[in-house]
Amino acid sequence: MMIIIFGSTGDLTKRKLIPALFSLYQRKIIGADFPIVCVGRKRLSKNDFIDHLELKKFIPEYDPKDDSRFIDMIYYYTVDLDCADCTGFKKQIGSLEKKHKTSDKIFYLALPSTLFKKVVDLIKSCGLTVGKGYSRVVFEKPIGHDLRSAVELNDHVSCVFPEKSIYRIDHYLGKELVQNIMALRFSNAIFNEVWNNKFIDHVQITNSETVGIEDRGDYYEKTGAIKDMFQNHLLQILSFIVMCPPKSISADDIRDEKIKVLRSLDPVRAEDIVVGQYDSGFVKGRNVLPYRSESEVDPKSKTETYAAMKLFVNNGRWKGVPFYLRTGKRLAMRYTEVNVVLKDVSCNMFCKSGVKEDHTPNIMTIRIQPDEGIALTFNAKHPGSKLILHPVVMDFCHACHFGFNVPQAYEVLLHQIIIGDQTLFTRRDEIEESWRYIDPIVKMVGKKKRSFPNYEPGSFGPKEADKLIGRDGREWILPKELRTEHGHNI
Ligand code: BG6
Repeated sequence: MMIIIFGSTGDLTKRKLIPALFSLYQRKIIGADFPIVCVGRKRLSKNDFIDHLELKKFIPEYDPKDDSRFIDMIYYYTVDLDCADCTGFKKQIGSLEKKHKTSDKIFYLALPSTLFKKVVDLIKSCGLTVGKGYSRVVFEKPIGHDLRSAVELNDHVSCVFPEKSIYRIDHYLGKELVQNIMALRFSNAIFNEVWNNKFIDHVQITNSETVGIEDRGDYYEKTGAIKDMFQNHLLQILSFIVMCPPKSISADDIRDEKIKVLRSLDPVRAEDIVVGQYDSGFVKGRNVLPYRSESEVDPKSKTETYAAMKLFVNNGRWKGVPFYLRTGKRLAMRYTEVNVVLKDVSCNMFCKSGVKEDHTPNIMTIRIQPDEGIALTFNAKHPGSKLILHPVVMDFCHACHFGFNVPQAYEVLLHQIIIGDQTLFTRRDEIEESWRYIDPIVKMVGKKKRSFPNYEPGSFGPKEADKLIGRDGREWILPKELRTEHGHNI
């Protein structure tokens, strides 16, 4: 098998793909018979390309002496997509097929989505998918920028590759704790039985980033937080939280259940959406520019760098349970977590007898990153002669139990592509259904009046987002570091 990476001089290749492939090489999942063919527009010698990869920076354990065999696996070919010489490229791939005795290929498109069609056309016109062996194609998000463009792109790709060979990456599905949601829910009676509107009061999903838009002003201006994070990562997490048990753990059975979730989402009301954009200020003691002064950003930009919304799932299991989702850049802390808050049942005999001094509803916290784990907040009796309730937290720390060396998201995903398992990739209908849901939201937000910028870097986002959840008598649950040992926000 070989992997052919288009767009290999970009950041994704050196930051994520090469380190992930290196790790697979170290674990002996790939070896000398797995050529890593890097394709780019730039005219570079192999040595120049290897220098460009900055291996020592992105793979701390890389040792040029011991790991020279890994370097031997890497090839660099210059291909200009606008005037690609098919004969030359086909010949290069053909000779690698002979040398490594393999015709199986993974085409990885580490490129902006505007170039996907061109690459797929090149693969087709060079006849790289015909003949012996199988071909798989891998895309990075964004897959389209709305429903129409996603359908168009999917149609185009499906002329060359069947759905079973298409791997659409949502790197959140490669995160251990996202995959853990199914295990947690469906293999534990304690969680499984209460996972419905009879017991659950509401659910919060937070993705909070300290970074800004880095050097992606041009992309971000056209995208914004709703398309960049909600349409994909947040809806995927939501799907795992909400889905019914699949018939089996096969990729299609799981994806069949996830798509039902997307189809059962009620349209979001305008008053249930809050958007924001960061101003100038400080994040972790560092002075940062306002969004509107970032490179390639319109000084009057209306693009949102923060979004929060309340939504409902319209099915028997979830009717009436609000889901509060939020994501933002340049916030106080980097963390992604889900909080499933159960109904407060302590106001029974405890209340009546006046012993309920301090209590909490049960909260199940799934910490996706960076401090992976699962915690359960519940009430216990405070020691002493009086019966006084006292919230406590039971905390499962993933790294303490399983160690720190669990594979990172891209390594997991590449491994799945190599073995041909599509479970952690989004199917065509999932992508299209999520755009069908997001398109009207984007339209609605476009019409909203906004006085941007409206939040300070290093904060937890705009005040309106606190009001959104506060209106319902609830508050955003802060990350572990900002909660007392009893699970309350500080
Ligand atoms: C990407 C978004 O998909 O996910 C970025 O385009 C965002 O804007 C990133 O920063 C977040 O990923 P992670 O793994 O750092 O949470």
